[in-house]
Amino acid sequence: MTEQPPALSGNSTLATWLQHPAGEPIVRGIAEQAGMDERALAGLRNLSLRHLVEASPNAPEGLVDQLVAQANGGRVPSDDEATGLAWAEQITPGRFAGRTVIVTGAASGIGRAVASRTAREGGRVIAVDLAAERLEELREELAGHEIVPVTADITSAEGAEAVVAAAGERIDALANVAGVMDDFAPLHEVQDPMLEKVFAVNVFGIVRLTRAVLPRMMDAGRGAIVNVASEAALRGSSSGAAYTASKHAVVGLTKSNAFMYEPYGIRTNSVAPGGTLTGMRPTNTSEYGQQRMDAQRADLPIAVPQALAASITFLLSDDSVNVNGAILPCDGGESVY
Ligand SMILES: NC(=O)c1ccc[n+]([C@@H]2O[C@H](COP(=O)([O-])OP(=O)(O)OC[C@H]3O[C@@H](n4cnc5c(N)ncnc54)[C@H](O)[C@@H]3O)[C@@H](O)[C@H]2O)c1
Repeated sequence: MTEQPPALSGNSTLATWLQHPAGEPIVRGIAEQAGMDERALAGLRNLSLRHLVEASPNAPEGLVDQLVAQANGGRVPSDDEATGLAWAEQITPGRFAGRTVIVTGAASGIGRAVASRTAREGGRVIAVDLAAERLEELREELAGHEIVPVTADITSAEGAEAVVAAAGERIDALANVAGVMDDFAPLHEVQDPMLEKVFAVNVFGIVRLTRAVLPRMMDAGRGAIVNVASEAALRGSSSGAAYTASKHAVVGLTKSNAFMYEPYGIRTNSVAPGGTLTGMRPTNTSEYGQQRMDAQRADLPIAVPQALAASITFLLSDDSVNVNGAILPCDGGESVY
């Protein structure tokens, strides 16, 4: 009797699909259609087929089940039968019960994943972003949980005021997630508008909102702040000069805050994400910067935003009670390369 290949599900990793005789041509076909080279496909190895399809803007409904059936001789096996499942978020019920948590950048990517997890763990989430429509979608998606959408620009004083007003007297935690990328330009190519935009959001946005929130936390004698940095906060080869300098500044702000407000019971930490599957994309990239970075890029898997939310919510919650001033790389190990 010939041995049957193991069953694949939509939640099996792409690495598992690629090792499967019927799964491999399906995944390669999708990659080819998306114009992905071998290296790009390898970067997605820890993601599931479902993650890949969900990230594709024009994927028709039901495509995951259709591909799973195609790979399994017409059957759609359950996850219990399937092999090589991708990491999946595990909710800790009630971890944020009674807490008000501000999350910036909540309409997309990592911020959205943080807002969603915090709300599903019982928190009242003040979800802040420029994108009003996508915030409304988030609220609808999380019906039954407490989401207060605030359309605001964190770079303006009025924006910070609107966020604090929506939060009310009690603010338990603040996740500064909103950020913008640069165009990978090395310093001799950096244009002032890009430099100003990147610093306005990534640095001054954090300063303005945190400054507005701190008095409430100081009065309460407690609070947790998480600033999202980047691999570019740890090295010089991850992005252009503007983004790299801005994310190094995020680390400086994190350390200063951790030191200054420890006597008030306020903890400030930072998460440094590696490559994450979000809407963030550089445009009009510098040819020289891109070429230098490609030569250095670590061959590591891309993460889903929920994997970043797992680290960020840990630092926002009481589970990290004794952690203050930490810069936590959440990058699959990229920072050790
Ligand atoms: N995606 C990655 O690979 C990656 C890697 C390292 C670090 N990061 C960092 O993670 C954070 C989140 O990025 P993401 O990948 O989820 O990006 P994203 O583009 O998917 O989401 C960022 C969100 O921030 C919002 N935003 C931008 N400027 C704003 C402003 N002035 N006021 C309010 N909201 C604003 C955007 O509208 C967007 O919804 C950023 O700080 C980014 O630098 C991302």
